[in-house]
Amino acid sequence: MPMIPDHIVEEVRMASDIVDVVSDYVALKQKGRNFFGLCPFHPEKTPSFSVNPEKQIFHCFGCGTGGNVFTFIMKEEGVSFPEAVRILAKRAGIAIPEPEETSDANLQLREALYHINEMATAFYEQQLYSPAGRKALDYLHSRGFTDEGIRMFRLGYAPDSFEALFKYATERHFSPDKLEQAGLLNKRDDGSYYDRFRHRVMFPILNLSGKVIAFGGRRLAEDDSIPKYVNSPETPIYHKSNVLYGLFHARDAIREQDLAVFVEGYTDMMRLFLNGIQNVVATSGTALTPMQARLVRRYTKNVILLYDSDTAGAAATMRGADVLVEQGLDVRVAELQEGEDPDSFVQKYGPDALRDQLEKAIPLLDFKALRIPEAGGHLEKTERVQSLVQTLAKIQDGLKRQEMVHYYAEKMNLDEEVLWEEVRRLRKLYRLRRKPADEQIQVMLPVERKGSYAERSRPVEEELIRIMLLYWEAVPFIFSFMEVTDFYNEDFQIIAAVVFELYQNQIRPEPEELIHYFNDAHLSEFIARVVLMSKEERDAVTKDYKRWAADCLAKLQSLMLEMKIEDVQEQLKEREASGGDATELLEAWRRLQEQRQRIRPENFLPEYQ
Ligand code: CTP
Ligand code: MN
Repeated sequence: MPMIPDHIVEEVRMASDIVDVVSDYVALKQKGRNFFGLCPFHPEKTPSFSVNPEKQIFHCFGCGTGGNVFTFIMKEEGVSFPEAVRILAKRAGIAIPEPEETSDANLQLREALYHINEMATAFYEQQLYSPAGRKALDYLHSRGFTDEGIRMFRLGYAPDSFEALFKYATERHFSPDKLEQAGLLNKRDDGSYYDRFRHRVMFPILNLSGKVIAFGGRRLAEDDSIPKYVNSPETPIYHKSNVLYGLFHARDAIREQDLAVFVEGYTDMMRLFLNGIQNVVATSGTALTPMQARLVRRYTKNVILLYDSDTAGAAATMRGADVLVEQGLDVRVAELQEGEDPDSFVQKYGPDALRDQLEKAIPLLDFKALRIPEAGGHLEKTERVQSLVQTLAKIQDGLKRQEMVHYYAEKMNLDEEVLWEEVRRLRKLYRLRRKPADEQIQVMLPVERKGSYAERSRPVEEELIRIMLLYWEAVPFIFSFMEVTDFYNEDFQIIAAVVFELYQNQIRPEPEELIHYFNDAHLSEFIARVVLMSKEERDAVTKDYKRWAADCLAKLQSLMLEMKIEDVQEQLKEREASGGDATELLEAWRRLQEQRQRIRPENFLPEYQ
């Protein structure tokens, strides 16, 4: 971990109010000058954990733990000091320069790329108002965009040519290599270059300083033989997941109105903004990211998702909206009638009608609990509950989470305890991936047995992981019998946790793709190995994944019981040696033996069919 410069540590400290930060983890109530809550570091029923905003410290009168905002994060997240600084920096939206970023060469490259993008933006703009751009300008006018609006967002036109920008730029001594790095030129196999954007309306994407960092290029006609949008690739200055289109223009309005409206498309964003609804940003049709949440959180905690009514993308976005909740945002959902997107809606009915729709936005949780259409079946409700639980589990404020569980249990006519249990289970799972390795395992075995159990269960756990990688349908099957924490092997447990979370979020990656979900090299290597091995074996093994999994589950269960039996046997020996009463132990031993004899793979089968 590279050193973080002192002035940045200071900046992070200044930006991270301890009450604010602790509130992400602990429900706090103000009493006098201090705030109190239940200590996260030891179990307790009455609050003895206090936070002092003036001194920016916390202290628990119960267990004696205390410190500043950094130590709090170190303890709570189980991380080192630099890691804690990074977590808080991210939270506050402060960039920590990577070592290579501070190097001159890198700085120079970034400057060069900004310069190139500025040149290209000016070129595309100029083209839009030239005879070559007539069609593009007509197109924009026909969609109701005025010259003023077009200029404000610096829209342009990329000519219908493979070398328009190439020629223009190289004549001005820009290097093709740099232009390629900026994502504006593509390279052919023979080493020559050509324009990436051709015959498209160009939407420049700005960063928060108003510099152009990338482009989206829209086709002029509805022609399905070419992609609707061509976008810039990732470059040293453009990371798609860190961008909200329009934030440069919208941020003042977002701050003033204490609300951000999220739409999908560039055109939606522009349309609303130009019609006086200026607190709007576009997510550009991709899944929401934590970084986008943190970006907007600098200006407001309130977000309304306003999506096209009937697209698959919108449905996926709703599912992904939990990342906003996780970052502490208050998320509501506004709906439009079928067939409309925010752009067409404003065109048809005007901005006031849209404001009415925004007024009617409902909390994301309501949306998840109630709006997903009820088809009467049991499964429908289960699905809604699942989706609801996922969001509830992402609420960081403990008090609010509790309130919401209570509220929705009543509203959906569910047992509150059961709902709580589900939420807790999921939170445990989310935490798993952030805790250091030594806190990950909670197998209920006596210490002496753990090593032996680990050794023997390892191949079975590996097999279960392999089954899940091969047969995604096996994921719910397997997790209906065991929990993530039942994977004793550390690596398998992490993999199981990721697989389970993906499944819960209805993401189904190809086995090969799964590798990218792991930062840890030895985990991805392991997965690669399993996937490859499994492929070879695939035809050799039974296609009946349930049968296969049931065998493994039975093996694991008897292993677990064997360990317990061995433990009881040891205790029996000791008891007998000391001449104590062994009746209870004998009874336990007999029960465990019985249980073990009853284990059969079939036991795992009918229950699910
Ligand atoms: N998008 C993309 N690539 C595509 C389709 C969409 O990058 N092939 C992104 C763009 O950022 C686009 C957003 O997803 O703005 C929303 O897509 P869509 O609704 O199809 O486009 P709009 O921008 O709304 O365009 P229009 O109003 O012209 O249909
Ligand atoms: Mn759209």
